[in-house]
Amino acid sequence: MLTACTSIRNHLGELLDTHLVEGADFDDIAAAVVAARDECGQGFSRDELIDQLGVLFLAGHETSASALTWVFYLLAIRPELVQRIRTEVKAVVGDGPIGLEHVKRLSFVRNVFRETVRLYPPITFLPRVALESTRLGDYPVKRGALVIVSPWVMHRHTQYWRDPHRFDPDRFSPEREVGIQAGTYLPFGLGPRVCSGAAFATVEATLVIARLIRDFNFEVVSRGAVRPAARLTTRPAHQIVCRVTRVKE
Ligand code: HEM
Repeated sequence: MLTACTSIRNHLGELLDTHLVEGADFDDIAAAVVAARDECGQGFSRDELIDQLGVLFLAGHETSASALTWVFYLLAIRPELVQRIRTEVKAVVGDGPIGLEHVKRLSFVRNVFRETVRLYPPITFLPRVALESTRLGDYPVKRGALVIVSPWVMHRHTQYWRDPHRFDPDRFSPEREVGIQAGTYLPFGLGPRVCSGAAFATVEATLVIARLIRDFNFEVVSRGAVRPAARLTTRPAHQIVCRVTRVKE
């Protein structure tokens, strides 16, 4: 029986092969990885390309999917924010197609995304292993000890955030954002291993939210409390079921 890993690798390999055909003309992330060269002009082997795409698949798909799940749940229960998004999209884009050129000016939509990944950071915790014995504040840390940095805990800490459990996208408005203490907001990690897809994820989510909220209403129809669970990403413990209807013209 194929392991899940082999099955994912086989699938990625099939997708990759469409890019490796002579004269293939794609304008996507896979094409960028295929075209990448090191300082000696050497590209990745097929196996290495599958590794690279596997990282992007895991790091870039599951995380964004988890964030967007929470976005649509939160907007479904806060209709006044939906109205603000529609007003902003109308002012910035009008009725035409929403494109990359609009993203910069869709600041409220972007703040909805940034606040969502504060309240429900897709990566709940970041594990590290101490390379040497040290102290963290009052705590001695032995070499080899597991140290967990948790965006979830930081983002909901009363010492750093006013009313931390409240969904309030205006925390990221220019006037209020300056008050956010450095190091307390880390949905994409921090430091040398910070997420290399953060800008991509923010643009992608801004476009998805703007497009779907402009055209559709989301209503939560599943019963029972919605509870987050820390799995591979921060997911709802039970499926959230929404009724999606087209906005009437
Ligand atoms: C909402 C979406 C996303 C969230 C919340 C997120 C979060 C994170 C976090 C917290 C890390 C740091 C892990 C650590 O320090 O151990 C990370 C690393 C990484 N992310 Fe993302 N990510 C997202 C989307 C993406 C996307 C779209 C891509 C690719 C297109 C991506 C590619 C990567 C890669 C390659 C790394 C490893 C960087 C390194 O170690 O040098 N991520 N991400």
